[in-house]
Amino acid sequence: MPTLINGKATSEKIKTEIAQRVSEIKTEGGKIPHLAAILVGSDGASQTYVGAKVKSCEQVGFESTLVRLEETVSEEELLKVVEDINQNPDIDGLIVQLPLPKHISVVKVTDKIKPEKDVDGFTPANVGRMTLGWPAYVAATPYGIVELLKRYNIETSGKHCVVIGRSHIVGSPMSILMARNDNPGNCTVTLTHSRTKNLPEIAKTADILIVALGKPEFVSADMVKEGAVVIDVGIHRIEDASKKSGFRLIGDVKFDEVAAKASAITPVPGGVGPMTIASLLYNTLLAAEGKIYVK
Ligand code: GUN
Repeated sequence: MPTLINGKATSEKIKTEIAQRVSEIKTEGGKIPHLAAILVGSDGASQTYVGAKVKSCEQVGFESTLVRLEETVSEEELLKVVEDINQNPDIDGLIVQLPLPKHISVVKVTDKIKPEKDVDGFTPANVGRMTLGWPAYVAATPYGIVELLKRYNIETSGKHCVVIGRSHIVGSPMSILMARNDNPGNCTVTLTHSRTKNLPEIAKTADILIVALGKPEFVSADMVKEGAVVIDVGIHRIEDASKKSGFRLIGDVKFDEVAAKASAITPVPGGVGPMTIASLLYNTLLAAEGKIYVK
């Protein structure tokens, strides 16, 4: 059996560590970290994610503010809300939940977020700093994956890491982090995407396979090398009448058959997903303590 990389347990441990730091801050009379989240519209998945983020803030003792805006809000109004939060000295971190409605420019909104408060690590300043290896807020999902590799003592140096998917949120930053001169890191990285030729053959050469393309059960056992470490970033709801909820969650990887070959693997649910919130909370703590941008 492979090592099951338990993101749920690891994220709970990180949240406990953060909660301990918050207690110390309280004792020291310091500032309690405060995260603001902007949610536009009523997309079901986004509501669930933002709800979980706010709840996690409470769990670790952070303050949180949820700003809900109508689907029809104008770009100008949204930019104004972002600017108000930028200027609010009580708020340390700001996230704007994506996706945004089509009439709003993600570029303009992201560019409006003050890099010092960009705990999602989506602004050009933080992406640039991360790429340079400077102190930066690193996007939550890649940061969570790096933390899992670290806490499970997975050797990455000199390994071939294949990343499937080149999104700005996961694949692209993941490829940079795995190639950097650090631990985890020092991999030889291949970043693959929808135009890649011979993707299955390339995937099969991976010592570490990170799958973030958003296609249910895309990776089958014949695409995986014996003993590979497999990180599944996908999350999909599929109907399942045998479940009380009427659905179950699956990833981008055919779990059972790939697990039979892997040396370590993340499950879905309970793998990468819970780590993203832990990373966001950690970034917010860094923001409150002025650890990335000196206050
Ligand atoms: N939508 C999907 N993932 C994310 C994320 O990490 N942050 C935000 N703000 N929106 C998302």
